[in-house]
Amino acid sequence: MITIVGSGKVGGAAALFTALRKVTDEILLLDVVQGLPQGEAMDLNHMLSEKGIDVNVRGSNDYSEMKGSDIVVVVAGSGRKPGMTRMDLLKINASIVKGVVENIKKFAKDSMIIPVTNPLDPMAYLTYKISAFQKSRVFGMGNMLDLSRFIQFIHEATGYSRNSTRGLVIGEHGENMLPLPRYSTISGVPLTSLLPKQKTDEIVQNTRQVAAKVIELKGATVHAPGNAISAIIEAIIRDTRQVIPVATYLDGEYGYSDVSIGVPAVIGKNGVEKIVELDLDSNEKEWFKKGIESVKTAISSLEL
Ligand code: 2OP
Repeated sequence: MITIVGSGKVGGAAALFTALRKVTDEILLLDVVQGLPQGEAMDLNHMLSEKGIDVNVRGSNDYSEMKGSDIVVVVAGSGRKPGMTRMDLLKINASIVKGVVENIKKFAKDSMIIPVTNPLDPMAYLTYKISAFQKSRVFGMGNMLDLSRFIQFIHEATGYSRNSTRGLVIGEHGENMLPLPRYSTISGVPLTSLLPKQKTDEIVQNTRQVAAKVIELKGATVHAPGNAISAIIEAIIRDTRQVIPVATYLDGEYGYSDVSIGVPAVIGKNGVEKIVELDLDSNEKEWFKKGIESVKTAISSLEL
């Protein structure tokens, strides 16, 4: 069973894409708003019914129903509004996420937790600390979404299939995110040999900024985060051991400790099975460090 805490647009989209991947037979949507998760569940079940997909979606306001969950996704909290950075949400969302994690500890202590609420990296740290779960079982979804956007920009610039494009985005899911053209290829051909540096710099910058643009235009990002969540769930349940960038707790990796931030990791049935350490050049190290500093400043203000 997969539980999604937070039944707004991203929670609903995560349930939709997870159901379509047919990786579980039950999805529970939880929310404090009466009626919202129930209505969302009904709507999703009606869609799944036409498709003949036997995934049962339930909606509830009762945390105790998450008992037996294999994975709990935490989307609850305020979303980013036009003009806001992700960090602007720190104070308000920290107390919401704290409350949710207390409930996960109480009702689903054997689950894996995927925090999604912004600011993502500090929330992943807070979730890890408050839950006291093994670090391999708590990892946030942020860079997977950034990667979807990076691949789209590469596709637009090269005209090659998205399906042939591999890339990586690591670091803070925020102002200092680090898309990595040097670790991106199209069917094995290095991106840096296909595009001039000026173009890859532009793609990097656009990847950093495009979420704000979507929020300005339509009020929220919905489908891309929902799908990125479901991709991580699929990697866990099918034990694919796919390398996915996730916000996980560092204990010396990349030269940093006691912080959670996006790094590539092998994702399988045990969660983070291995952190992949990349050889970063001096410019990449600088951006990664700026991300670490930003996340550390945020977490130093949290009451844990
Ligand atoms: C996103 O990148 C707002 O973090 C959210 O879509």
